[in-house]
Amino acid sequence: MHALAASPTRIADLPGPAGLPLIGNAHQIERARFHLRLEQWRAEYGDAYRMRIWARRFVVFGDPHLAAEALRDRPGTFGRTARVSLAAEEMGFGGLFASNGEKWRRQRPMVMAAFDPGHIRRYFPALVQVAQRLSRRWQRAGDAPIPLQGDLMRYTVDVIAGLAFGTDINTLEHDGDVIQQHMDKILPMLFRRTLAPFAYWRWVKLPADRQLDTHLDAFRAAVQGFIAAARERMRADPQLRESPTNLIEAMIAARDEPGQGLRDADVAANVATMLLAGEDTTANTIAWMLHLLSRHRWALERATAEVRRALGSDRVPTRLEQLEQLEFLDACAHETMRLKPVAPLLPHQAARDTTLAGISIPAGTLCIFLMRTGATDAKHFSHPEAFDPDRWLREDAAGTKRISMPFGAGPRMCPGRYLALLEIKMAMATLLGGFDLLSVSAADGGEVEERLAFTLTPSPLELRVRAR
Ligand code: HEM
Repeated sequence: MHALAASPTRIADLPGPAGLPLIGNAHQIERARFHLRLEQWRAEYGDAYRMRIWARRFVVFGDPHLAAEALRDRPGTFGRTARVSLAAEEMGFGGLFASNGEKWRRQRPMVMAAFDPGHIRRYFPALVQVAQRLSRRWQRAGDAPIPLQGDLMRYTVDVIAGLAFGTDINTLEHDGDVIQQHMDKILPMLFRRTLAPFAYWRWVKLPADRQLDTHLDAFRAAVQGFIAAARERMRADPQLRESPTNLIEAMIAARDEPGQGLRDADVAANVATMLLAGEDTTANTIAWMLHLLSRHRWALERATAEVRRALGSDRVPTRLEQLEQLEFLDACAHETMRLKPVAPLLPHQAARDTTLAGISIPAGTLCIFLMRTGATDAKHFSHPEAFDPDRWLREDAAGTKRISMPFGAGPRMCPGRYLALLEIKMAMATLLGGFDLLSVSAADGGEVEERLAFTLTPSPLELRVRAR
């Protein structure tokens, strides 16, 4: 029987940090460290506790089995919170990520097909081209420090635009106004709005909200540009309607088909969603991986040797089989995501009355699932604090995989996970194959810290490399 079965059944009877009248626990929360506070309270109050931010009451769950149980029970019992859905919709990306119920169900198969491993494998030559551009960019940097996250976001956006929209935007080789400088501002503002006491921006726009509007305008214009280019291709080649070659073509074809229930706004919302969901997550995971490898030189040397063996005389991978040989590098990626999951918490809202761990959860209850606590708990992992990629290569790794869930779980698990892992290995093999890694450090010269800005990012990092 589960240890939590003996927990109180009413939310009001759960333990939790004492709050103040009116604001609840809001004064104890610093946005960029929200996840650390929730993890600390989990250590004090256990696997299920309550807390309040102004009028919004939350139940926080720290047990990975409970998180998996709830995440599997979607879309019926749990879904994204109304606040996330509304805020994302207002910003123009109320697509797959922000939808619930029937609307989510209609969109999911199309996105899954677009990120299917077979489709991604066919796209591999274009991925090689993007990696070559990344390599040239870093060669040009010479001895100068490379702003790591900025360059990685150029890489991830170029990959998504090529794969999902069939457009070669090549921000890696263009400076000046690029789409990333607008995207950078969007998810942090979404996060800020999800934690705000009420939807104040509908009545009063603060300077940050006005700036956001400017960035959203530029971002929306870029999204419309992708759609217009795809429509143009489809006009020139009507065959693309029958056999779309990527996500945007499939969505446009469905939008134009009567009875599919997809509107222009849904196409645009999903184009925006793919850009936002695929940029930050993958780029920050690579940044965390480089940070961890630079602090564990033995692992860096082993990964480098593995990459150079697989690449032979190539400096950038040119064949998928080369990446498939990178067993240790793959383990480093999983170990990075265990320690530094870019989504350390998943907020959800109950769509109907239910019980979880014997606690009665009425419809509308806000729940937060902590995704790192189980993956760093000595109950499930030996030496949980250690960076030990080999744990993923041992025979009992199956259990490890069930507890660490960086891509979520159940029917809404990340559809981009195969692409993300391939992109991570491609970027890392490009770096380790073509360069000696000299250092990775915080741009401000201080300690590298965790910051939550919707995704979990390290402080801005600088990379130094020497071309081989
Ligand atoms: C290392 C990289 C990535 C990580 C760690 C990651 C993680 C996640 C997580 C935790 C979720 C929520 C899953 C859940 O609710 O159970 C998610 C959802 C999602 N991800 Fe990713 N992701 C990554 C890369 C990508 C990429 C490259 C794309 C595509 C371009 C993508 C597209 C999406 C979408 C569309 C959803 C919403 C799915 C739904 O609600 O049905 N992600 N991702």
